[in-house]
Amino acid sequence: MNILLLGAPGAGKGTQAVRLAERYGIPHISTGDIFRYNIKEKTPIGVIAKSYIDKGQLVPDEVTVQIVKERLEKEDCKSGYLLDGFPRTVAQAEALEKFSKVEAVVDIDVPLDKLLKRITGRRVCGSCGESYHIDHLDGKTSCSKCGEELIQRADDNEQTVASRLDVYVKQTSPLTEYYAEKGILKNVNGMGSVDEVFDRIISVLG
Ligand code: AP5
Ligand code: MG
Repeated sequence: MNILLLGAPGAGKGTQAVRLAERYGIPHISTGDIFRYNIKEKTPIGVIAKSYIDKGQLVPDEVTVQIVKERLEKEDCKSGYLLDGFPRTVAQAEALEKFSKVEAVVDIDVPLDKLLKRITGRRVCGSCGESYHIDHLDGKTSCSKCGEELIQRADDNEQTVASRLDVYVKQTSPLTEYYAEKGILKNVNGMGSVDEVFDRIISVLG
């Protein structure tokens, strides 16, 4: 199955994507993770991406679309994929249609006023990428999956988050209407526990 996960920054896309990818046996492809890897490795794409991500702005469509196109051509995507954080503009959605057919779009809905707390409290594993929230860590500073150190993402500060939320409202939220018109949009309430949200997603995907 070719699935997209939509949702505002902090809505829980990454958290759910890890579980969904395991459940359906398909690769989890996060453009944010791809950019962070390139930034860490100081690649030319990483240098470009950093200049936008640090300001909470979107990386230009032409850069992002090319990365996704190349990733979806890989063998492991032949039986399906789960895209997290792409597309993020109508132009990206139109470009995606030219090289792949999306079957289901899940929009994880969390009220904007709840997102800031989720994002600023997030800690991620610097090695495997697992996401946590300080409210549930009990002071732990290492990943329960792989034991590596937990870090705070460079763009998870209040100022950058404000810009990311603004960009989401203006540039990404029109995608819900775009996919609703195509009849493939599934709305999911993103409030409640991680397990509750997961169960809702599974039930809308059927
Ligand atoms: P990206 O990495 O995609 O970030 P984002 O969209 O801002 O989303 P987040 O990763 O912040 O949130 P999430 O929905 O994954 O939430 P999570 O599961 O971690 O993109 C980063 C940047 O890269 C962008 O700003 C842009 O510059 C660039 N970029 C990426 N894709 C691009 C594209 N297509 N085009 C152009 N530029 C692009 O959860 C958040 C927190 O909440 C965690 O602490 C988690 O533990 C907690 N949580 C999760 N679920 C629950 C729950 N049910 N209840 C309570 N807490 C929960
Ligand atoms: Mg994420």
